[in-house]
Amino acid sequence: MPVITCIDDLKRLHRRRTPRMFYDYAESGSWTEQTFRENTSDFSEVRLRQRVAVDMTNRSLASRMIGQEVAMPVALAPVGLTGMQRADGEIKAARAAEKFGVPFTLSTMSICSIEDVAAHTEKPFWFQLYTMKDQDYLRRLIQRAKDAKCSALVITLDLQILGQRHKDLKNGLSAPPKLTPATIANLMTKWTWGIEMLGTKRRQFGNIVGHVSGVKDTSQLGSWTAEQFDPKLDWAKIAEIKEMWGGKVILKGILDAEDAVKAAEVGADAIIVSNHGGRQLDGALSTIRMLDPILQAVGDRIEVHLDSGIRTGQDVLKAIAMGAKGTYIGRAYIHGLGAMGEAGVTAALEVIAKEMDISMALCGKRDILDVGRDILLIPEGFSGRWQS
Ligand code: GLV
Repeated sequence: MPVITCIDDLKRLHRRRTPRMFYDYAESGSWTEQTFRENTSDFSEVRLRQRVAVDMTNRSLASRMIGQEVAMPVALAPVGLTGMQRADGEIKAARAAEKFGVPFTLSTMSICSIEDVAAHTEKPFWFQLYTMKDQDYLRRLIQRAKDAKCSALVITLDLQILGQRHKDLKNGLSAPPKLTPATIANLMTKWTWGIEMLGTKRRQFGNIVGHVSGVKDTSQLGSWTAEQFDPKLDWAKIAEIKEMWGGKVILKGILDAEDAVKAAEVGADAIIVSNHGGRQLDGALSTIRMLDPILQAVGDRIEVHLDSGIRTGQDVLKAIAMGAKGTYIGRAYIHGLGAMGEAGVTAALEVIAKEMDISMALCGKRDILDVGRDILLIPEGFSGRWQS
């Protein structure tokens, strides 16, 4: 059993044990990958303020996201094709999250279906929705999430069309993988992955295959998004979906203060400051830079969460200290899943929690609910030197 001390350890194992097209799918951004890189590098520009001679006993990371109790303010982000990183991946990740006490968000583009994840977990999870042209399918999808007792709907707003990730096109990304000489050669080196995959029946997009008609190739994310995602999505449609759902709504993909205000006006419960992990608009600013202007614009009218770029517990601590009420990890737990299955997702959560806890203590705080800007050293102009 390898000793895991950080997310990078899991990332190395993920890369070694998972077919290249799926590792690359997770570990890439769009076009030049500038935004993908800056999401993480900008976190390290913000520094922490060391404080001493403060009682460090009885520390707590427990908090709330949209009114739900969480063991730490970190949810698992929706990630497409999770069940291709490891057989039954969504079920494994959801179980790890449930045991740890953090929310799991199931992607519309998952391999395991909503019903399947619900049948293999005890607590409600969150469902991420892509808005579709096919209104009948959209309504049925929302109803399926309701029937599965999902406790929040996370509507993604920044992917009506798919950003281009070069590696996915070059690798011929599909679920299940198409057998070409190159993929066969690569799959031959991934024995554990292959044996587990042969042992499951979950190898296609579980929320889609068998539920839609008229899509030529349901194995390709690219053709599915191009044919089915609704490019007309607007605020009126978001209000309509919110009404249809009738429960808690989180709007994902907000990166602009004006959009954040609109999200508050539509009556959503929370927004996720997100640039889709740098996978959509390359050249957009990192989320940690955009957090402050967005918080200033919405005040306490709406709960603000953040994703994109979080690889350590210190990153979470910085986002919370700046004013976010919750955060999401995507790649950090996918590395765990690809490395070691459910145990790897648990390991990722433990790494993040430990880093957050120790850093919080060394900043002189014992309770995540008391963490504020006074623990941060933010470079001058960090969020403010950009003009439009
Ligand atoms: C889908 O959500 C993707 O980013 O590939």
